[in-house]
Amino acid sequence: MLRRLYHDQPESFAFTPDNLAWAEGQMTKFPEGRQASAVIPLLWRAQEQHGWLTRPAIEYVAQMLGMQYIRVLEVATFYFMFQLQPVGSIAHVQVCGTLSCMICGAEDLIGLCKSKIAPKAHQLSADGKFSWEEVECLGSCANAPMAQIGKDYYEDLTVEKLSALLDDMAAGQVPVPGPQNGRYSSEPLSGLTSLADHAGQGARHNGSVQLAVDIGDTLKRIDGTEVPLRTPWTEARQADPDPEAAARDDMLGPDGPDGDQGGRVAGDAPAPRNRGDASDGVSEADGEAADVERPGRPEEGSVAPTPSNPARAESGTATPGYRTGEEPPSEHGVSDADDDKAGPKG
Ligand code: FES
Repeated sequence: MLRRLYHDQPESFAFTPDNLAWAEGQMTKFPEGRQASAVIPLLWRAQEQHGWLTRPAIEYVAQMLGMQYIRVLEVATFYFMFQLQPVGSIAHVQVCGTLSCMICGAEDLIGLCKSKIAPKAHQLSADGKFSWEEVECLGSCANAPMAQIGKDYYEDLTVEKLSALLDDMAAGQVPVPGPQNGRYSSEPLSGLTSLADHAGQGARHNGSVQLAVDIGDTLKRIDGTEVPLRTPWTEARQADPDPEAAARDDMLGPDGPDGDQGGRVAGDAPAPRNRGDASDGVSEADGEAADVERPGRPEEGSVAPTPSNPARAESGTATPGYRTGEEPPSEHGVSDADDDKAGPKG
């Protein structure tokens, strides 16, 4: 499916101070010069802030990461998690339309979205509160049919249950995600058939649902207040008297393919590691370091084949590995002598 930028774009984009601090923290997770690795989390946070991914947001992230705009655009248009057009102000419903969900009723769920939200995918509902699309397998096939609404999975759906969920959300509630038919997770609906002693133990909801309930960000757009910023190394680096040294990674070579890999810096002693190509001059692989003799093919005539029958070898007619009188195997692995023993072929 062709994914284009939306025709109506805002003038500009900038992270809020909280989101900016978070984004800069993500960038420090990667070696100097490799900040492009943070492109997906930054695009995701930009989408969370605005609701969908705008062209100014893509350009803003490209600028932060020192990337070509086209490179960031490629990422944004490749991954379906990035919404390139406005989505519902309350929720964007992603109905799984892959095999398990389809044979368990996904078509009916899509029919409901068409009648209750908008006739076409990615269209806003009349009140602007919802939008929907069909997506590929979301990995919850044992709880088919299902839909991702906001950030969480609503599973074991029926048309009636999905309709009620949308009504609740429109009314400002956040229904508990997870199985909607009373299951804890993906155990048999009739009850546990193994490990039954564990029934009723543990948290009230299964792992992902409990997390969603605890954090409470199912429909809410992430703004940096949900969990504390966890980048303790940035504080450690600020306290270091030699921050440049603290930023180095001894496992990285001084120069990457682009001449700016980061890590060790020019003038540092070569890293004692085996890169397998002796380019660092200290490879530990046999024969690869510059000062180690390279073993190779023996010189011609220096090693003679060892025939199993020296007498025949002397005559110059031996085939190495075969006794006198034996014929070497033919192409199909049986000697001509064996063929003779087998008698005439019918
Ligand atoms: S087929 Fe729907 S979650 Fe896998």
